[in-house]
Amino acid sequence: MPTTLVVSNRKGGAGKTTVSVNLAAALAALGRRVLLVDLDSQSHCAMGVGIKVGKTTPTSHDLFRSQEARLAAAILPTAFPNLALVPADPLFEHGSGRRDEGLLAQALAEEEITTAFDVVILDTPPSLDILLLNALMAADWVLVPYVPHPLSFEGVRQLTRVLFKIISGPNQGLKLAGFLPMMAAEHIRQHRAVNSDVARQFGDLRILPGIRNDIRLAESFGAGKPIHYYAPQSRAAEDFAILAAVITEKVWNS
Ligand SMILES: Nc1ncnc2c1ncn2[C@@H]1O[C@H](COP(=O)(O)OP(=O)(O)OP(=O)(O)O)[C@@H](O)[C@H]1O
Ligand SMILES: [Mg+2]
Repeated sequence: MPTTLVVSNRKGGAGKTTVSVNLAAALAALGRRVLLVDLDSQSHCAMGVGIKVGKTTPTSHDLFRSQEARLAAAILPTAFPNLALVPADPLFEHGSGRRDEGLLAQALAEEEITTAFDVVILDTPPSLDILLLNALMAADWVLVPYVPHPLSFEGVRQLTRVLFKIISGPNQGLKLAGFLPMMAAEHIRQHRAVNSDVARQFGDLRILPGIRNDIRLAESFGAGKPIHYYAPQSRAAEDFAILAAVITEKVWNS
């Protein structure tokens, strides 16, 4: 069975998609067979791996529209080794569709997926909707990127309330991989303050080594390549390699 990791934060622009695409590519570069599933109709994961989603391209959202849809039918290879994508449908309206929280877990349990991949990474929309619930129900681990900003701490708090509900009920196997500071700089006082708030509330060990501010991450989406390939010498590529190693240790070696 693949390990499923959901990247989530209620707050928009917290770095979910940046982390999903680049952690997926970094784990794939280490030899894991990775399936990146985009559940956000902004459909940015496809852009990040250089894929164009056309009107007739099958997507993750088909699952929420039709009983007949199969996730495996929407898997696309990418130009990068060991990395495949299920794109999102830019026309999907969040809040619409089938109301079943178990659809994604069921779809990921199909043999075509369980035999072909070691890791599934789920990118989620910035909302607490049925798609997010599906992702939390399907996942083994949850990773929460946040920009160390006071407003973002509130987003983390809202998400953790939902997480505790899921962990204490319908998906008791869900574990917290950690909180991931994005664009953090130790010399910025506010960043230090928010990071220590998160540490105080959730424990030091819950905070992962962060991803520093690097404009090349934004550029890499324009170029359609994960940072590992777009700018292998950049500090963001270095940070994502460290994150992939830490996640590997946590998920497979502990
Ligand atoms: N470490 C970083 N350094 C520089 N820019 C970054 C970094 N992380 C993210 N960004 C930029 O911040 C913006 C938001 O990131 P991203 O799209 O990954 O967030 P998101 O949480 O997926 O947003 P949404 O909630 O809209 O889905 C993007 O323009 C991205 O390029
Ligand atoms: Mg996003």
